Amino acid sequence: MNRPYRIVMIGKQGAGKGTQCSKLAASLGLAHISTGDILRGAVKVGTEFGLLANDYMERGDLVPDDVILGIVEDRLDQPDCRDIGFVLDGFPRTLAQATALDEILHPDGVKLVINLDVPTDVVLDRLSSRRVCTGCGRTYSIYKPPSSNWTCDDCAHEVIQRADDTPEAISRRLAIYDEVTSPLIAWYQEKGKLVTIAGDGDFNAVAIEIAHLVERAQ
Ligand code: AP5
Repeated sequence: MNRPYRIVMIGKQGAGKGTQCSKLAASLGLAHISTGDILRGAVKVGTEFGLLANDYMERGDLVPDDVILGIVEDRLDQPDCRDIGFVLDGFPRTLAQATALDEILHPDGVKLVINLDVPTDVVLDRLSSRRVCTGCGRTYSIYKPPSSNWTCDDCAHEVIQRADDTPEAISRRLAIYDEVTSPLIAWYQEKGKLVTIAGDGDFNAVAIEIAHLVERAQ
């Protein structure tokens, strides 16, 4: 793919978007734009915007489009995104967001949309077993905990369960995915931009397949 890279990763909650976007961004020197991470950062700092977003996130609801669009548009206008490119993680999630993204990137739009396809029973297990570091955000699971007493191996902060990884919030998030986000698959397919890959294989095997896709994309 020629610069600027303009890649979107979509998939159910727990499909591995964050995991794979961060590997891809690191290997190509791209901006990794995770709207979930941006929102959690604002909640942690306690900005007015963060306090507003927190209620939606804890319930597992989407934050309103107009709130999220302003943030993404500002970020995409930065020189690193314009010159080298980006991988979007968790955005767009609604047809309104996808249409707005097309307008922001007019006339070319995004170059490649990767749909990470993972069965629901697998994502349910991944989300309910996930634990995250409150300092650096490193992800662990109950199957692979940190070496000492739920303290992060990298930064020594506490490792906890995400507030939206409760059974109620997970079920709400997956229902919203089915109803509001999954129509993006057909939308991007019609535009000839979508490639679906299985995301339930080994971490590194999925990363290699993604790297090949990006290399082959125009
Ligand atoms: P966000 O943080 O984006 O959460 P999400 O969409 O629910 O996605 P997750 O982080 O749960 O899953 P993921 O696909 O990134 O998987 P991960 O790599 O972590 O958004 C949070 C909230 O913010 C939303 O609910 C909403 O309120 C708000 N928001 C965000 N964007 C928004 C938008 N555009 N519009 C409106 N509101 C928005 O992996 C999950 C687990 O699986 C990890 O433990 C990982 O280690 C494991 N795993 C990953 N890959 C593999 C593998 N191959 N094999 C085994 N385990 C694996």
